[in-house]
Amino acid sequence: MLTAYDYPSARIAELGGADIILVGDSAAMTVLGYSSTREISADELIMLARAARRGAHDTLILGDLPFGTYETSDAQALGTARRFLREAGCDAVKLEGAGPLLSRVRAIVADGIPVVGHVGLLPQSVTNARDYRAKGRDAEQALAIIHDAVELEIAGCSALVIEAVPAQIAGIITRRVHIPVIGIGAGASASGQVLVYHDLLGFTEGRVPRFVKPYATARDTLVHAVQEWSADVRARRFPSVEHTYPIADDVLADVMARLEAPHSNSKLDT
Ligand code: KIV
Repeated sequence: MLTAYDYPSARIAELGGADIILVGDSAAMTVLGYSSTREISADELIMLARAARRGAHDTLILGDLPFGTYETSDAQALGTARRFLREAGCDAVKLEGAGPLLSRVRAIVADGIPVVGHVGLLPQSVTNARDYRAKGRDAEQALAIIHDAVELEIAGCSALVIEAVPAQIAGIITRRVHIPVIGIGAGASASGQVLVYHDLLGFTEGRVPRFVKPYATARDTLVHAVQEWSADVRARRFPSVEHTYPIADDVLADVMARLEAPHSNSKLDT
């Protein structure tokens, strides 16, 4: 599973062979420049998901329910989930957490909409940068995460995302539940892996999380391309003849003659 947030990124995810595209609320930072996932609205993410759908007709698209659009009531959660299916063409939705949110999962699943749960590090609950640390490294927290994963399966989730937990805890969860477990920063024993598009391709500025392996240096490549283009434009090396529309000599001569005629009625001759 790979995140994608628009037509070109979804095209690349599909052509590159991702089984699932997650239109994640990480778009808040990667695409919209907000400082946390808590800032993106349903309208913004649905617009991005609709573009991703246009770019990937043959891939399952998972829409992330944004912070503040599903927690209050089952009716609120169902309303938002339906919007992702009807307005954006998503196939399923993801939400973060368990406990009181199990009821939201049950309500959405009862409406026929597949739900993916999310346990471990829950970015929507982070209010302080220090809270981006791995979860489940003490026994109490590890047991709570395992418990949440099992409860989410019982509530009807079709799959789980497990984020930033020790590989051994992800392994226990993967063996305990009967649905796919998709890890990010959770080691190799999960059923599958998810990564953020911009991290995978090397777009991200500054430090990336420990679990990211960039497979390209897209940011450097693109900045370099723009630098070359702007240098060429300033030095008048671009555009050159091959980037320019031709005009036949006789047509040009005719234009010049008419411009120079004493009573030219050219629109330029005012
Ligand atoms: O929004 C997102 O990108 C996510 C992944 C980190 C799983 O939820």
